[in-house]
Amino acid sequence: MNVSDSERVATVLESENFEMTPDEDSADIVLFNTCSVREKAEHKLYTRIGQIRKLYSKKKIVGVLGCVAQLEGETLFDKNPSIDFVLGTKAVGRVSKAIESVLEGRSKFLDVGEREPDYDWSVAETQKHSPYISFVPIIEGCNKFCTYCIVPFSRGREKSLPAPEIIRHVHKLHRQGVKEVHLIGQNVNSYRPKTSEGLEDFRGATAFSKLLRAVAATGIARIKFTTSFPRDFHTDIIEAINENENLCNWVHLPVQSGSNKILRLMRRGHTIENYFERIDKIKTSDRKISLTTDIIIGFPNESEVDFQDSLKMVDYCQFDSCYIFKYSPRIGTPAYQFEDNVSVEEKKQRFIELEERQRLNQHRIFKSYLNKTVQVLVEKKSSQNNFDLSGRTSCHKVVQFKGSAALLGKIVDIEITESKSNTLYGKVLNTFV
Ligand code: 5AD
Ligand code: SF4
Repeated sequence: MNVSDSERVATVLESENFEMTPDEDSADIVLFNTCSVREKAEHKLYTRIGQIRKLYSKKKIVGVLGCVAQLEGETLFDKNPSIDFVLGTKAVGRVSKAIESVLEGRSKFLDVGEREPDYDWSVAETQKHSPYISFVPIIEGCNKFCTYCIVPFSRGREKSLPAPEIIRHVHKLHRQGVKEVHLIGQNVNSYRPKTSEGLEDFRGATAFSKLLRAVAATGIARIKFTTSFPRDFHTDIIEAINENENLCNWVHLPVQSGSNKILRLMRRGHTIENYFERIDKIKTSDRKISLTTDIIIGFPNESEVDFQDSLKMVDYCQFDSCYIFKYSPRIGTPAYQFEDNVSVEEKKQRFIELEERQRLNQHRIFKSYLNKTVQVLVEKKSSQNNFDLSGRTSCHKVVQFKGSAALLGKIVDIEITESKSNTLYGKVLNTFV
């Protein structure tokens, strides 16, 4: 979501004749798009602003955008006097107005207001993170209030974009030659537009599965979606994936813990049994669907037994990939009232143990791709020396292989010849679109 926000901020600035530069030294204005999901991310902001102030004698305009801006608001100016303006998560469309105010001499400009009703979600060709892949926001905000999470406070309540707008957006990207769209939102499967407009012709048990079928009908080569919320994950989503080749065979379904006690304290709204039921459906679907997740370790009151439940859960689910986080207390969340009573050392140990368990499982899963053929969207030149190109499968695995730059943006058949824990390696067989 943050990368998507940055693309739109850059689009607005470009249209107002600002010039984007990756060269910090020559920049007159430095913008920080911030994350506040864990404390570390927030600290990074203060460190970076300090560096900017120290490194350059020339005064640069410094703007803070995103979640930290939304949460801290006015207090950011006190915390760091070199900040010139603060723009909240929904105010990013007004970035040029903020800069103009500062240029006109107003020293501290703050806007943490609502999004414009006619906010433009599109991204200029020149500002996209990839020429072949586009993010398409479908829902913003979150109503779930998991006890550890700051997102409902930083991004506000769930608001779904109208389906006709989303479908028009995907059609346009398709016409422009984009190969893959990522439907994004904090909880995509909680998608609930105000009206059923645009979805009338599509089957589906929920508005989200109707939307998936509607987006699939645009004919775009690939559709991925993230993040899904377990409680609202209707199995019709799996049906939709089975029916439509262009709905990619990847589901990101954050579980957070394997212990019912901890899930209850986290107020996740699902038990581990509910979660396993969904996993069983995913694993036995017609198409092989890859499964990824997020797990928090060291949540308050997580005992050794609870942690062992998380290890068992990881073994049961056989995730293709897993993001593991150490619990980080966030001011303003309900869990902030709980005692952060798992020691730093314990968190470190549990993190290492869980990571190792996942690594072993993942190694086995990745190995099962050996000698198989996968379709890869060629995204970029590889950062590693031996292999020239890199891309991702429909199941979202990174694949590296040798090939000419002419393959960039194409979907190619790759035979897998080698596997590591996080990457597959192979050789090109055929080129498709
Ligand atoms: N501490 C640690 N991890 C967190 N996440 C969200 N809030 C916290 C927190 N306070 C993790 C969750 C979520 C992912 C995006 O970040 O696992 O799914
Ligand atoms: Fe945070 Fe829970 Fe909402 Fe995800 S569902 S954004 S973890 S509150």
